[in-house]
Amino acid sequence: MPIFSATAIAHPNIALIKYWGDIDPELHLPANGSISMNLSGLTTRTTVSFTPSLEQDQFILNGEPTVSTAFERVSTILSRVRRLAGISTCARVESKNNFPVAAGIASSASGFAALSLAASRSVGLILNEKDLSRLARIGSGSACRSIPGGFVEWQPGHDDTDCFAYSIAPPDYWDVADCIAIVSREEKSTSSSVGHSLAGTSILQPVRVADAPHRLSLCRDAIRRRSFPALAEIVELDSTLMHSVMNTSAPPLFYWQPGTVEIIQAVQTWKKAGLPVCYTIDAGPNVHVLCPGYWEEKIVGRLRQLECVIDVLPSHPGGPAKIDKN
Ligand code: DP6
Repeated sequence: MPIFSATAIAHPNIALIKYWGDIDPELHLPANGSISMNLSGLTTRTTVSFTPSLEQDQFILNGEPTVSTAFERVSTILSRVRRLAGISTCARVESKNNFPVAAGIASSASGFAALSLAASRSVGLILNEKDLSRLARIGSGSACRSIPGGFVEWQPGHDDTDCFAYSIAPPDYWDVADCIAIVSREEKSTSSSVGHSLAGTSILQPVRVADAPHRLSLCRDAIRRRSFPALAEIVELDSTLMHSVMNTSAPPLFYWQPGTVEIIQAVQTWKKAGLPVCYTIDAGPNVHVLCPGYWEEKIVGRLRQLECVIDVLPSHPGGPAKIDKN
């Protein structure tokens, strides 16, 4: 068998309504549905080459051979693709992010989305968007949302077959900017996977999950109407609910740092002064500051003036995962 190779690119995404907690941790079947926006400014480019001479899979991340849990997750995706294609050949995976590894931005969503597309295409499988999203989900839950473009909803479904993400609005439907304010470049102390497994220990998680359909509906509606005030309200509430679950898990998780709080307070002050702005925070200390696209420059300028901010990475709604022919 000759070497079969393909390259794909994908963007990470920011959850507007968060995924936190699994029903099935192996298949990443989530406790609740979620909505996200792909981030145009950040990209992962992944090449997969199924190579007969290889005795085991290889994973090179940003130029470094990797043999951690990330490698096992990569191999799980490759094995699924091998099963679908009816082959047993090992593959070399080379993945590069255009954002610094230490930027504190999770690359697992874009990484597993690009990997799923490149791996399946390299062996000649043309999977539809739904099946690609399902495949990416096995690597990392939020990766299923980086397959479709723009604003994306992940329906929790009941099992592996109906748990996938789809676009609810294309990237050019509404220009929202995400200005990621970096306050720390350190790797987070507790991975999302461990965090998901602890979610059920919080007495607040059942309430958060039960109300998710309501928050999803408000978020969907805010996007449909392109209403920034409506989006801001539900996005901040949802982020705070997730962090409340984290803080009340056993053991409790605290991802924030002093700089995180400084930015939250600055955003609240700007809001009171009439600026269209809001924030959301994932499993880490960095703050995603959202605003209408045409406000990006002003908000980035203000964020850069805060002493705790090391860097600001701006993005707009990004497209779907796609094959890179270059
Ligand atoms: C806080 O998708 O990173 O960013 O499935 O274990 O890889 P795994 O978890 P992951 O969890 C993301 C959690 C979050 C919220 C979100 O993106 O919805």
